Amino acid sequence: MTTRIPYRTLSGTSRLAGVMGWPVSHSKSPRLHGYWLAKYGIDGSYMPLPVEPENFQAALISLRNLGFSGVNVTVPQKEMAMPECDELSDRARRIGAVNTVTFSKDGRLWGDNTDGFGFIENLRQEAANIDFTSGPAVVLGAGGASRAVLVALLDEGSPEIRIANRTRKRAEDLAKEFNDPRLKVVDWPLDPKSLSDVALVVNTTSLGMVGQPKLEINLDGLPKSALVTDIVYAPLITDLLAQAKARGNPVVDGLGMLLHQARPGFHRWFGIDPEVTQELRDFVLSPD
Ligand code: ATR
Repeated sequence: MTTRIPYRTLSGTSRLAGVMGWPVSHSKSPRLHGYWLAKYGIDGSYMPLPVEPENFQAALISLRNLGFSGVNVTVPQKEMAMPECDELSDRARRIGAVNTVTFSKDGRLWGDNTDGFGFIENLRQEAANIDFTSGPAVVLGAGGASRAVLVALLDEGSPEIRIANRTRKRAEDLAKEFNDPRLKVVDWPLDPKSLSDVALVVNTTSLGMVGQPKLEINLDGLPKSALVTDIVYAPLITDLLAQAKARGNPVVDGLGMLLHQARPGFHRWFGIDPEVTQELRDFVLSPD
C-alpha cells in the first residue's frame, strides 16, 4: 500500500535557499518563497536563517559548502555580504549592498541587489502606463533603500531626481558619489515648489512605518497626474499614500516591491520566474 501525504516532502536532490539576517523572525521571505515553491510544485525549501553578524562570513561559506543554491541577505548584513562575493552585478556595486547571493557550481559567490528591480517592477505592474522619462522624480531619504531606488530610476531614464533628506549632507554625498547631473539635492522639509512639475514621488524613509513618526509633507502644488509611492508596506496605506489618494493622485503601496525583489533569486535558485498575483499579496499579508 502506498502512503499518501497531503504535501510535498524534500528529496535527496532538493534545492535549498533561505534568508540570512539578525533578527530574521520578522521576514516575510520564507512565506513568500514557500508560496511559490508550493504553487509551482518545486522540490525545494526556503528557510529563515538567523545569523548573528559576527558569524555572518562563516555561515555564508557553510551554506555554500552545504550545497545551498543561494540566499537572500537582509539587514544588517546587506553591506557585509558585498566583500564576501567573488563577483557582483553592476547594480549591486552601484547600490553598495547585496540582497541576493547565488552559489555557483564551482563554489563562487555571485552577489546581486534586486531592490531597485523590485521597485520598478512593482510600479510597472500597478501603474501600467508608467513612463519614468515623463518628468522629474522626488525621492525622500538618502539611506540604503534610497540608493536602490536612485540607481533604478537613473537606469530607467528619469530626466531629473530631486533628493530630500533630513541630514542634507548624506544626500549631497550620495549625489556626489553617483556623479550624475540629473541628481539634485533639495530642502527637507520639502518646499512645495519642488513638486510643481513632478511625475513621481517616492518615500524611502522609515517615516510612516508602524511605530515610527509620521511623514509630514505638504503635497499642495503636486500635479494630480503624479504617481505617489512608498516603500513602507506596514501599514499598507501609509499617511503619505492616504493624503495623495485623497487629493486625487494615483498611488502604489510598497508591498509589491518586496514581492518583486524576490523574483530574480527564486528564478536563479529554483528555475522559474514566479508571478506576483493578488492571491500572493493576500497570502503574504495574512497572519502566519
Ligand atoms: P534604509 O536602509 O532602510 O534606507 P537607513 O539607511 O537607516 O535605512 O535610512 C533611513 C532613512 O530614513 C534616512 O534617509 C533617514 O534620514 P537621515 O539620513 O537624516 O537619518 C530617514 N529617517 C529616519 N528617521 C527619520 C526621521 N525621524 N525624520 C526624518 N528622516 C528620517
